Amino acid sequence: MRFSTCVALAILLIFEKIRHTKSLKGMKLTIPRAVREGHSATLDCQYDLQGAQLYSVKWYRENDEFYRYVPKEEPPTRVFTIQGIHVDVSVSDANKVTLLSVGRDISGLFQCEVSADAPSFHTDVRSAPMTVAVVPVGIPLVTVDKTGLEHGRPLIADCHVPPSHPASNVTFFVNDEKVPGYTSEQITPLADQSLEQKTARLELSGVGGSWEPLRITCEASLFKLYRARSLEVQVKPDTPHPASVLLMGERNSSGARTNLMLMPPSRLVSLGVFLVKVFF
Ligand SMILES: *[C@@H]1O[C@H](CO)[C@@H](O)[C@H](O)[C@H]1NC(C)=O
Ligand SMILES: *[C@@H]1O[C@H](CO)[C@@H](O)[C@H](O)[C@H]1NC(C)=O
Repeated sequence: MRFSTCVALAILLIFEKIRHTKSLKGMKLTIPRAVREGHSATLDCQYDLQGAQLYSVKWYRENDEFYRYVPKEEPPTRVFTIQGIHVDVSVSDANKVTLLSVGRDISGLFQCEVSADAPSFHTDVRSAPMTVAVVPVGIPLVTVDKTGLEHGRPLIADCHVPPSHPASNVTFFVNDEKVPGYTSEQITPLADQSLEQKTARLELSGVGGSWEPLRITCEASLFKLYRARSLEVQVKPDTPHPASVLLMGERNSSGARTNLMLMPPSRLVSLGVFLVKVFF
C-alpha cells in the first residue's frame, strides 16, 4: 500500500471514530400496528445519543409533521394541526407522543426523526405503518352450496364476515385442519358506513370417498384487535360404507393453482382426498 493511501485511510478511520462516538444509535420506533377508531394511541421512539445533546424529535404522518420536541425552545413541544390527529401534549415528550380519539383517515406511515445537536447534527429516522380499524361485530358465518357430498362433485363453502375496516383476514378449517388459502374473495364496500364486507370462497373439488361428515369452519381476524371462529357446518358424507375410497377429481379454471392437501393417512381415509384451488 502506498503511504498516501495509508494516511487517507487513517484519516478516514479517525473521522469514522468521531462520527460514531457521539452519534445516534439504537433507534427504535414502537407503534401499534392497528388501533380502534376513537381510541388513543401512544407512539414511542427510543434512541441513544451516546452523550450528545438532543436537538429535536419530529413526528410525521406520511409527509406531514404533527409534533415536534426541541428541548432548547420554550415550551419544548409544538403541535401542528392535521385533520384527525389530536396530540395530548400532557403525555407527550422527547420519546413519545399520544394521539387522542384517532380518526380512520389518519391510517398511514408514521415517522420519527431524531437529530443530535451541534457539532454532529446527526439525524436518523424510523417509520412504521399504523391502521385505524373498525372491528367486525359478531362472528363469521359459513354457508355451503349443498348439504351432502355428491360423489366427485365440487363443494363450495363461503365465509361471510361482518363488516369491518379494513376487510378482515379469513382462514378456513376442514375437519379442524387449516386450509392454506382459499379460492376467491369478494369485498363489498358499504358506502354509508365506509366499511367493507368480505366473503371468502373455498371450492373443494372431487370431494368424495368419505363416510364421515366434512366439518367446515372459518376464522376471521383483524390484526390483533379481533379474532372469531364461525359455528361449524357439517356436510353429509356420500359414502355410507367404507368400500369406495379416494376419489379424486379436478376442476379447471384459468389462473387458479391446484393444491393437493396433504394429510396423514388416517385422515385421508376419513376424509377422502380433495383438491383445493387456492390463491394467495
Ligand atoms: C392479514 O394477514 C397478514 C399475514 O399474516 C398480515 O400481514 C395482515 O396484517 C393481516 N391483515 C389484517 C387486516 O388483519
Ligand atoms: C387446465 O387449464 C389450463 C389452462 O388454463 C390448460 O393448459 C390445461 O390443459 C387444463 N387442464 C385440464 C386437465 O383440463
